[in-house]
Amino acid sequence: MISSPAGSADGGPGAPGDPGTGATPLPSWLPIREDLAGHTAYGAPQIDVPVRLNTNENPYPPSPAMAQAIAQAVADVAGTLNRYPDRDAMALRRDLAAYLGHGLRADQVWAANGSNEIIQQLFQAFGGQGRTALGFEPSYSMHPLIALATGTRWISGARDADFGLEPDHALAAIRAHHPDLVFLTSPNNPTGAALAPEVIEAVCAAAPGMVVVDEAYAEFARDTSATALTLLPRCRRLVVTRTMSKAFALAGARVGYLAADPAVPQALLLVRLPYHLSAVTQAVARAALALASEPLATVAALREQRDDLVAWLRGRGLRVADSDANFVLFGEFGDRHAVWQALLDRGVLIRETGPAGWLRVTAGTPAEMSAFRGALSAVLARGDGPPAPPITATRRAAASRRGSTSRAGSPGPDESAVSGQPAAEVQR
Ligand SMILES: Cc1ncc(COP(=O)(O)O)c(C=O)c1O
Repeated sequence: MISSPAGSADGGPGAPGDPGTGATPLPSWLPIREDLAGHTAYGAPQIDVPVRLNTNENPYPPSPAMAQAIAQAVADVAGTLNRYPDRDAMALRRDLAAYLGHGLRADQVWAANGSNEIIQQLFQAFGGQGRTALGFEPSYSMHPLIALATGTRWISGARDADFGLEPDHALAAIRAHHPDLVFLTSPNNPTGAALAPEVIEAVCAAAPGMVVVDEAYAEFARDTSATALTLLPRCRRLVVTRTMSKAFALAGARVGYLAADPAVPQALLLVRLPYHLSAVTQAVARAALALASEPLATVAALREQRDDLVAWLRGRGLRVADSDANFVLFGEFGDRHAVWQALLDRGVLIRETGPAGWLRVTAGTPAEMSAFRGALSAVLARGDGPPAPPITATRRAAASRRGSTSRAGSPGPDESAVSGQPAAEVQR
């Protein structure tokens, strides 16, 4: 069994025998495509424990008012479910454009079942057989996995030692590979920091094809004005993807969207399935958007939880990557699995992901954070996975000389990792 990159960010090999994760080897009589055989499906563990901090959801459920508005919207649409939904989801796209601002219009916005489906449609339209996509890892594991599923060749470019991305480095990879698609994740999952808009603009200027900026965590950024949406008027082949799964606390509803030149949604009409977004999903998303200020109020609280968490972890002598998202990457542990397991044994589920030796924890409620801190303190006290020495002054100076956008300690995948295969570090 080959461990695919499915598990790197929010995915991961599932437990053997766990239905739906693909962790059980397929029987040899099944004529699956050769390029899929042996891969492991996405499968972040779904374990019923008191404190779940492993898939970057918003821990605050919809308020009673929001739940009531959603229930009413579903009731309103229920009597029309004999009909197919609005195929082009125009009303929802208008609402999403209004939410995004930046002068965007409905014809520049497209919606689908989660941003994963948006990304899949982008691969279907702009990638595929004989085409190449480039990403900079460690990053969101589904980008290479969807590349695989759509027959697109995936090039794994490396990030800097501090998980940032220097323009020169990105441009060199683009010149070397002439990718049809470039993926930039900002804020990056699982490392946490956002890219400076100048880096994105430089990539747009150099890339021969489409540039996709995955902004799933944009609302949590320390500087929310630094979104790639500002670049759309100047960068015609730029696509910015967003989701309602994180800040909007609507992961269960499956709504993702993009903003781009109107030609992009036009192109996606060719690959989307007819009526891909159900009338129920459209109604739920619109009801949530009408009350956007409610879930967005939790974002401020979660940013605070995240910043407190970063400070607390650093106070424990751990290495911690700067974060613009609702999660924090920390390490380095000689045996991170032992630390992950010891936390789970104490009822706290986090993610074993990212570069070797690092772990990722989602910002939760104050009670969840307190449970996490208690559990980690106990695990560290018993000597599990003692942290490696803190980042040295020399390495920190080298990182800041490179003008990087994030600060952390561990070497990421080496530049030589630029190849047809994802970097080994992200394969859990
Ligand atoms: C960077 C990034 N992009 C996209 C997604 C997919 O989100 P969804 O399909 O729920 O919209 C995730 C989920 O964790 C993510 O981390």
